[in-house]
Amino acid sequence: MDTDSPEELLSEIRERRLGVWGVLQIAAGTGVAVYAMWAGILMPGFRKVPLRLQVPYLPASRAQVRNVMTLLHGRSGNVADLGSGDGRIVLEAYKKGFSPAVGYELNPWLVRLANFHAWRAGHYGKVSYLREDLWKVDLSRCKNVTVFLAPSVLTLLQDKLLAELPDDALVVAGRFPFPDWTPSQVEGEGVDRAWGYNMQTLRQHHKQEVQKEPSQP
Ligand SMILES: C[S@@+](CC[C@H](N)C(=O)[O-])C[C@H]1O[C@@H](n2cnc3c(N)ncnc32)[C@H](O)[C@@H]1O
Repeated sequence: MDTDSPEELLSEIRERRLGVWGVLQIAAGTGVAVYAMWAGILMPGFRKVPLRLQVPYLPASRAQVRNVMTLLHGRSGNVADLGSGDGRIVLEAYKKGFSPAVGYELNPWLVRLANFHAWRAGHYGKVSYLREDLWKVDLSRCKNVTVFLAPSVLTLLQDKLLAELPDDALVVAGRFPFPDWTPSQVEGEGVDRAWGYNMQTLRQHHKQEVQKEPSQP
């Protein structure tokens, strides 16, 4: 192909039909771009987390934050948000008097963003955002725990919380309830709803259920 000018070359490219190879190249290029976006911006730090436990970032709505705070009302002490995203729950809880207020988040971009939000609100250094895998955090001293995670993950998280949290802990779930737990309180409607779970009540309920089960011969 002899082309005399860039314009001629361009029109030649425009006129040529895409072959199978061309389509494959575009598909592969798009795939790589989407993966790079997923791995580099949306889910960095998740390589060691099994796929079924990976939860993408979606910030809580204002109404959701308000409902979570309503359920925490009257309580005090520390608070931990598991998967803290841009830090909004932790920051709001700190403003309501909870301290230490800690967020655990794997995505380093979100940890930076959360710190920026804390700085902008004048609370930088007073709240903590730790780049840690929530599955590896020791929760045995947590009095107030908040979560906004996918339902598939909540099933497994129930076991961790039951095994580690003290009796006087309260767990507040936003958007999705824990599948096997009965909440002691519910606040809000629709996608903004939040559920409060009292650990002592849950354990008593759990014990009664086990006692009710017929014993094996
Ligand atoms: C649905 S967002 C909720 C963000 C925030 N809690 C809120 O209510 O706005 C879930 C967050 O959990 C984080 N996450 C998911 N799995 C995690 C893990 N294993 N350890 C730490 N953070 C995790 C995600 O990166 C994401 O930011």
